[in-house]
Amino acid sequence: MRATLERIHRDALAALEAARSEAEVEQLRIRFLGRKGELTEAVRGLRDVPKSDRPAVGAFLNDVKDDVERRIDSALGALRAAARDRQIAGERVDVTLPGRHHIPGHLHLISQTLDEMVDIFVGLGFSVAQGPDIEDDYHNFTALNVPADHPARDMQDTLFVGEEFLLRTHTSPVQIRVMEQCKPPLRVIAPGACYRHDDDVTHSPMFHQVEGFMVDRHVTFGDLKGVLTLALRRIFGDDTPLRFRASFFPFTEPSAEVDIGCVMCGGRASGCRVCKGTGWLEILGSGMIDPNVFEAVGYDPEAFSGFAFGLAVERVAMLKHQISDIRLFFANDIRFLRQF
Ligand code: DAH
Repeated sequence: MRATLERIHRDALAALEAARSEAEVEQLRIRFLGRKGELTEAVRGLRDVPKSDRPAVGAFLNDVKDDVERRIDSALGALRAAARDRQIAGERVDVTLPGRHHIPGHLHLISQTLDEMVDIFVGLGFSVAQGPDIEDDYHNFTALNVPADHPARDMQDTLFVGEEFLLRTHTSPVQIRVMEQCKPPLRVIAPGACYRHDDDVTHSPMFHQVEGFMVDRHVTFGDLKGVLTLALRRIFGDDTPLRFRASFFPFTEPSAEVDIGCVMCGGRASGCRVCKGTGWLEILGSGMIDPNVFEAVGYDPEAFSGFAFGLAVERVAMLKHQISDIRLFFANDIRFLRQF
């Protein structure tokens, strides 16, 4: 009996040594300690042991059982701990890995330029007004002193919306809408989209303008010059050369276009291709508001005077960043947009 128990003990230890998984160890528990297990059978076999030997053999059997039980438990514990360690190692966050890269978006260059221009005029005390993109003929033309058969309508290739309406060709109609609603003194800018039947490297069917005007009892051409000089220098830099040049617009009298020294060649006498050899680039239209415009909105042209101006946002952005094709702004090529 003792020899049998010693063999079972050795078998159990060898089998445990070889067991590689929790399931295998559980199988061994059944094989040795289960209801029909080898050691359980041995307990039953005690009956056949002579009575005098029974206490000693029984004690030995208990020692073997206890030992096998303890070793099974510790083998299970070790396997579970190893499994937990493997799991934790698999879940560990490697803080040295490079982070996931998110490219933050930003405002479109035209929005940035528009915001910058609006900020400058707001800083000079102008407030911001908006008007509809779909205008009527009256506000876009007639009230701005451009009657129905006036040749000045040819200057602006109008896109019509049905019989009565059109896509505004400039932001000047907002002047009319504001003056219809409000009494002077006024200092207002009107930024927004405009539309023309036009499409080449410097013209887009949709583009943006900032319109501005000031009306009070004694507004002079000097005020116009002062405000525009300051604003253009803020936009293009303090040393930018400026030139006011006589021009014509139906809604202003007298009218002036303003040129800045060429941003490409620095306005040197011989000029370059961008300024077509003149050293100057046209940047905005302006003038003293025509008395006919005041009459259209019910202002007394004898009592009030004012100046107005309009400039294209795309042109400002193109000159500031030396962009040669206006269509790049709207092609939505991320490689272009990302640069600004
Ligand atoms: N509306 C003109 C255009 O789109 C720009 C302009 C010129 C606006 C003179 C003005 C102005 O207010 O006084 O070409």
